[in-house]
Amino acid sequence: MSLTPAFLDELRARTTLSTLIAKSVKLQRAGKEFRACCPFHNEKTPSFYVNDDKGFYHCFGCGAHGDAIRWMTDQRGLPFIDAVKELAQAAGLDMPEQDRRAAEKAERAKGLHEAMGDAAQWFTDRLNGIEGAEARAVLQRRGITPEIARSFGLGFAPDSRGKLKEALKSYGDAMLVESGMLIAVEGKEPYDRFRGRLMIPIRDVRGRTIAFGGRIIGEGEPKYLNSPETPLFDKGRTLYNLDRAQAAARKADRVIAVEGYMDVIALAQAGFGEVVAPLGTALTEHQLERLWRLSEVPLLCFDGDSAGQKAALRAAHRALPMLAPGRSLAFVTLPQGLDPDDLVRAQGPAAFEALLGRPEPLVDRLWASEVAAGPLDTPEQRAGLKRRLTELAEQIQDSNVKHEYLAEFRARADQQFGRGPREFRKDQRGPAPARQQRGTRNARGVWQPPEPPPSQLIRDVQASGLDPILARAVLAGLIRHPVEIARHMEILGSLRSASGALGRLFEAVVEVALTNPASRQLDSEDFLTILVRSGFDSVASELLRTDTLPFSFTRPAADVTKAREDLGEAIAVMAAQPAVDVALAEATAALMRDGTEEAFARQVALSRQRQELQDRLANLMLAEDGVFEE
Ligand code: UTP
Ligand code: MN
Repeated sequence: MSLTPAFLDELRARTTLSTLIAKSVKLQRAGKEFRACCPFHNEKTPSFYVNDDKGFYHCFGCGAHGDAIRWMTDQRGLPFIDAVKELAQAAGLDMPEQDRRAAEKAERAKGLHEAMGDAAQWFTDRLNGIEGAEARAVLQRRGITPEIARSFGLGFAPDSRGKLKEALKSYGDAMLVESGMLIAVEGKEPYDRFRGRLMIPIRDVRGRTIAFGGRIIGEGEPKYLNSPETPLFDKGRTLYNLDRAQAAARKADRVIAVEGYMDVIALAQAGFGEVVAPLGTALTEHQLERLWRLSEVPLLCFDGDSAGQKAALRAAHRALPMLAPGRSLAFVTLPQGLDPDDLVRAQGPAAFEALLGRPEPLVDRLWASEVAAGPLDTPEQRAGLKRRLTELAEQIQDSNVKHEYLAEFRARADQQFGRGPREFRKDQRGPAPARQQRGTRNARGVWQPPEPPPSQLIRDVQASGLDPILARAVLAGLIRHPVEIARHMEILGSLRSASGALGRLFEAVVEVALTNPASRQLDSEDFLTILVRSGFDSVASELLRTDTLPFSFTRPAADVTKAREDLGEAIAVMAAQPAVDVALAEATAALMRDGTEEAFARQVALSRQRQELQDRLANLMLAEDGVFEE
C-alpha cells in the first residue's frame, strides 16, 4: 500500500502537533516549544518537547522522537493506515481512494500469502514422497541436486483434481480460487489448477511465494502452466529469483537476465547466483527498472534462436527511453540451439563466464539490427537506415545520452558508407584501400565496427592531454593548409605518440608531407583524398564539420598568410600545453603536500605559464558569438 509522500506532507502540514498531543498529555509552553513529562517513559521533570514549526516531538530523556503520524502509531498504538486515516479526518483531508482499497487488499493478501506458502510446502512434501519419484528422476537427469531443488523450493503437484484443494481446505474455495491454485468454471466444483507437474515457486522480493510455474513431467503441451495474475502476482512486475539474486548481484556487481526458470536454476547450481528471468514474457519497464537497481548495465542473455533474439531486441527498444548516463544494457548471445542451462551442462561454467566477458553493448545491438533489416545499396535505402536510427535515438529521454547516440549513429553511418565516389568503386576489382578500414560483417552478418571507430577520436584526444577543441582545429587547419605540414613536421611528428586514432591521424598527416615532394603543392582536395584512402574517411568528415570552430585557419580564409601564422601559433600552444598541465598538476600536489615557499613559487610560475598559453589561444580565436557548437 502506498500513500504518496505529497499526501503525507500535506497531512503533516495541516496537523498542529501540539494540539494533537495535548489531547492526551498536559503541555506547558516553553518559548517557541511545548514541554511535558514524557509519555513514553516515567519521569518527574519534563524532558519531552513538542515543536510545531518543525512538526516533531522529542524526548531528551528516552530519545522518543517522531511526527504526528508517529505519535498516532507509537503513543496511540494504531496501525499506520489507521493513523493516517484518523489524522486525515481530523484535518479534513479525503483519504486517497486507492489507499483505502490498498489497505483492504493488504488485509486480504495476508491470507493469500499464507495459502501460497502452505501450497509450496505441500508440493515440496509431495516431491519428496512416493508420488514424487518420477519428478525426482527428472531433476536428477537434468543434473539438479537435491540441495538446489530445496533452495529453490521445487515441488511436485500430483495428477489429481482435488488433492491440493483437500489439503488446503481450511482456506476455503474462494481464497484458493483467488490465489490461482484452483480453477473455477461455472457450474462445476473448483478443481486443482496444477496437476502432474514439477512445481517451481515464484517468490517476491521478500521471498514469499506469490505464484507457481508448473513444468510438465516429460514431453507435452503446454510445457509450462503458470499461475494467473492474482492480487499477489503481477507478471510484469515480477522477476523470477529476484529475492535470491539481489545479494549475489550486489556482490558480483552484475545481474544477468535469462529466459527460463530452468536456466536460472541450472546457473545457480553452476555458481551464478545473480540470475533472474522474466515470466515467459518480454521484459517490461518495471522489470528493467528493477534490474537497474542491481547493476548499471544488466546483461541480457537470451537464447540464440529467433524468438530469443526478438525478445532481446524488444527489451533493447523498451529500454531506450529509460537510458541515463551510465545506465544501459548489454547482450550476451548464446550459440544457436543452446540455452544457458544446456551450455553450462555441456561446456561448464567457464564457457558461460567467457561469453559474459564480452557482451555486446546496446548501441551495437541496435545498430546491427537496423543494418541487417534490409539492403543498403541505394541512397534511399541508406537514408532509410539513417532515419530509423535517428528515430530510435530520439526515443531516449536523457538529452546527453540521446545526443551521444545520434552522434554515434551518424558517425557509424558515415564510416560505413563513407563519402566520396562509393558507387563508382563498386565495379573495381578488389577492395579500395579505404574499404579495408570500413566495418566488416561477421559470420552472423552483424556489422563489426572498424578500427578506429570515429567517436574514438574524441576519446583519444582527451587521453592524450591535448586540448580537444584545439587538436581538432589544428587537424582541420592542416586539411585546409596542407603546405604548412612540412614546416611543423617536428612537432606534428611528436604527436604521433598520442594514443589511438589521433596518433595515427597525426602520423598520416606527417606521412602525407613526407611522401609528397615539396615541389608539389598539395591542395586540400588531394590531402583529403589521401586521408580517405588511408581509412580516415569518417574522421576527415568529422574534422570538416569543425568549420565552425573560431579560428582563421578552420575557415575559408580571407587572409591566407594570417591564417597560416595563426595555425603555427595554435600548433605551438597545443604542443606545449600537455607538458605544462602535467607539471602544474604535480606542482599543485607538491604544494598541498609540502606547503613550502619553494613549492608555492613553482606552482605560481606554472600557473602563470598555463595562463599565458590560454591567453595566446584566446588571441587566436575569432571574436563572434555562438561559434561553439559543441
Ligand atoms: P523455455 O522453453 O526456454 O523453458 O521457456 P526452460 O526454462 O528452458 O525449460 P526447459 O529447460 O525446457 O525445462 C522459457 C520460459 O518461458 C516460459 C517459462 O517462464 C519458461 O521458463 N514458458 C515457456 C511458459 O510460460 N510457457 C510455456 O509453455 C513455455
Ligand atoms: Mn531449457
